Amino acid sequence: MSANRVLSGIQPTADSFHLGNYLGAIRQWVTLQESYDAFYCVVDLHAITVPQDPALLRRRSRVAAAQLFGAGLDPKRCTVFVQSHIPEHAELSWVLSCLTGFGEASRMIQFKDKSLRSGADQASVGLFTYPILQAADILLYQTDQVPVGEDQRQHLELTRDLAQRFNHRFGRTFVVPGPYIVADVAKIADLQDPSVKMSKSSSTPQGIIDVLEDPASIRKKISRAVTDMGSEIRADNEAKPGVTNLLRIYAALTGTSLEALERQYEGSGYGAFKKDLADVVVDALAPVRERTEEILADEAELDRMLADGAGRAREVATATMALVRDRVGFLPAR
Ligand code: AMP
Ligand code: TRP
Repeated sequence: MSANRVLSGIQPTADSFHLGNYLGAIRQWVTLQESYDAFYCVVDLHAITVPQDPALLRRRSRVAAAQLFGAGLDPKRCTVFVQSHIPEHAELSWVLSCLTGFGEASRMIQFKDKSLRSGADQASVGLFTYPILQAADILLYQTDQVPVGEDQRQHLELTRDLAQRFNHRFGRTFVVPGPYIVADVAKIADLQDPSVKMSKSSSTPQGIIDVLEDPASIRKKISRAVTDMGSEIRADNEAKPGVTNLLRIYAALTGTSLEALERQYEGSGYGAFKKDLADVVVDALAPVRERTEEILADEAELDRMLADGAGRAREVATATMALVRDRVGFLPAR
């Protein structure tokens, strides 16, 4: 029996991933490559749902892939590839979009949020059908588990619904995937406004820590992070959302429990706690940044690694798509 499969994706839309991406997604991906047959993709087709400069998109796709390898994804243990290298993603997305209700797609929160920012009339149809492309990414690889942050839960529900609908209508074709969401790190908050998630689109630069950021800047941002009334270092999401977010980051990066940290910092002030946290974050990210830089220094080798990943992804994607074409009733092309 083959190992269970995981698949996840990340957009190449920034010069660096942030700490929310790293803790909520990428670190789980690194762990899961040990025990699953894992596929991870840089989703450049998703990136163009909002306007992108072509040269910058190419650059950021390489930087994204380099960070994934830099964070510990090992091409011997998992398959890392670029979404646009596998045209079956777009093809399956079309088939699935014909099974998706207009109302069903209209209820997707991320589209509502993103289109509100630009005005719904300005938003592209691609942004509207974004979750259907995501479902295609997942279903093409017969995925069992999808490691993501909390913000992706609704998209995974749609994916499950589409898989079940297709299977019901055309016969069992797709594995129905489940979410893999790790509670304490699924929603890392903005350092300046702990009521919102850390996000390149909604946070100020002071609220975000980038994986590739220089240590001095990381230290400054942590020292200025919003804390709450009082001086107690205690995890309490309602009364102390700022401190709780910092404790979660600390706990996740050190493998300590929140309770152990509360005991460790009993009676000490925010200042000492933040200083230690800054050390923890800088120490965790420095090796990732250094490896990423090394990988980016040899672009030809990076492109070769991605071509290799695409080769392995293609084997699975073409097999699934051949089955889908047959199930749907398309004539064979010979
Ligand atoms: P994106 O940058 O939107 O492509 O997100 C990539 C991955 O990071 C997805 O699995 C998201 O759910 C996850 N993610 C994004 N922001 C956060 C956050 N603030 N906390 C935890 N996970 C996050
Ligand atoms: N929509 C996801 C995000 O914004 C990225 C993504 C695209 C994805 N395709 C995927 C995540 C497939 C998991 C599986 O974070």
